[in-house]
Amino acid sequence: MATPKLTAGLDIGSTAIRVAVAQGTGGGHLQVIGLAEVPAEGISRGLVTSIEDAVSAISSCLEKAERLTGTPVEHAWIGINGSHILAQSSHGVIAVAKPNGEIGEDDITRVVEAAQAVATPPNYEILHVLPRSFTVDSQPGIKDPIGMTGVRLEVEAQIIEGQSAQIKNLTKCVYRTGIDIDDLVLAVLACGEVILSKRQRELGVAVINLGGATTSLLVCEEGDPLHVAVLPVGAGHITNDIAIGLRTSIDVAEKLKVDYGYAVAAEVGKREDVDLAEISDEEGVVSRRQVAEIIEARLEEIFELVDRELIKIERSGKLPAGIVLTGGGAKLPGILEVAKRSFRLPATLGYPLEVLSPLERVNDPAFSTALGLVRWGMAQEGGPVGFKLSQLPSMAGIFARLKERFKSIIP
Ligand SMILES: Nc1ncnc2c1ncn2[C@@H]1O[C@H](COP(=O)(O)OP(=O)(O)OP(=O)(O)O)[C@@H](O)[C@H]1O
Ligand SMILES: [Mg+2]
Repeated sequence: MATPKLTAGLDIGSTAIRVAVAQGTGGGHLQVIGLAEVPAEGISRGLVTSIEDAVSAISSCLEKAERLTGTPVEHAWIGINGSHILAQSSHGVIAVAKPNGEIGEDDITRVVEAAQAVATPPNYEILHVLPRSFTVDSQPGIKDPIGMTGVRLEVEAQIIEGQSAQIKNLTKCVYRTGIDIDDLVLAVLACGEVILSKRQRELGVAVINLGGATTSLLVCEEGDPLHVAVLPVGAGHITNDIAIGLRTSIDVAEKLKVDYGYAVAAEVGKREDVDLAEISDEEGVVSRRQVAEIIEARLEEIFELVDRELIKIERSGKLPAGIVLTGGGAKLPGILEVAKRSFRLPATLGYPLEVLSPLERVNDPAFSTALGLVRWGMAQEGGPVGFKLSQLPSMAGIFARLKERFKSIIP
């Protein structure tokens, strides 16, 4: 019997490393057969800080996935994250090749290549080129120019770049575990792929992935990504604030946040106390109201930083489909209220769309990136899922180029 083709997504986070494995699609749905998670080692703020520790953590996560699915993971789509990620807009122009002026796929590839000729900072690599819209002669706002006629083709694109050293460290870690890399994908871009509906992307929507050490943002409009940003602050900072504010250990602070935390302080009774002796070896009583106040303050600060990104692109308070929250930090009760207030927009929790799985954890917001990577991968491999952008020919081959360049450093 032929072994079914598996697609795997590997999300290397600051708090946890996660793998999702899917076995093709059924009726357009991802059939997820394995989800594995291990605590992250050797990763901090989305960056590799110890290759050895990261390799052993990634390996144990892959082994866990193998035990679940009964098949080894031989290659995976890898999420890349970290505040080194940069996004800039770019413009490309070419003359249409065919004498009769009919625009073909080659023209698209060439114009997107032309858009890549932006000034990349030294020691940065282009990870993605996301075409937003095309202009044929002087007609702007064209989504798909193939088959149209013109002499001049232009594209407006978002160029996403990452620091070469970080990309090298990440690829090195993955290769050392013995698996092959299908491609590197910006984590939040992959995440959007599985939790956003087509309608939300058309209307205008922002995904906020609240991770342990980073908060990443993806804004989509008219179906395509408009902006991405990765901020160096996450839900782990809430834990640190609780530890400092209430003078507890980090472990106790994390427990207070996860088990007793609430994001809207005014809704927590003033006399609700937590006896530390009941949940830890520490002594003392802390007020739940105070825990909530600390959470709320930090959350508002994180959302304010995100809103500054929305202000930059003139979308603050202006996204009709609102905010979709995901990532482990989104599990904080009351977070939607704070998001609605901070962004003056509707806010919902993101759940993976069109995913079939007997595994309960598919709906865990912490797994959205790993699942998104699988969806992205399937779209690239020609499956019937995913949004058009991830299937553009111009996107493929970027990693192939990087891979050539990094081969020398990969043992
Ligand atoms: N039930 C919960 N309630 C509140 N917070 C939670 C809950 N579960 C997890 N978290 C928080 O979510 C954060 C981790 O989120 P996630 O696993 O998405 O991060 P990560 O992907 O490892 O990190 P990053 O993306 O920043 O590299 C931690 O700060 C953790 O405390
Ligand atoms: Mg993450």
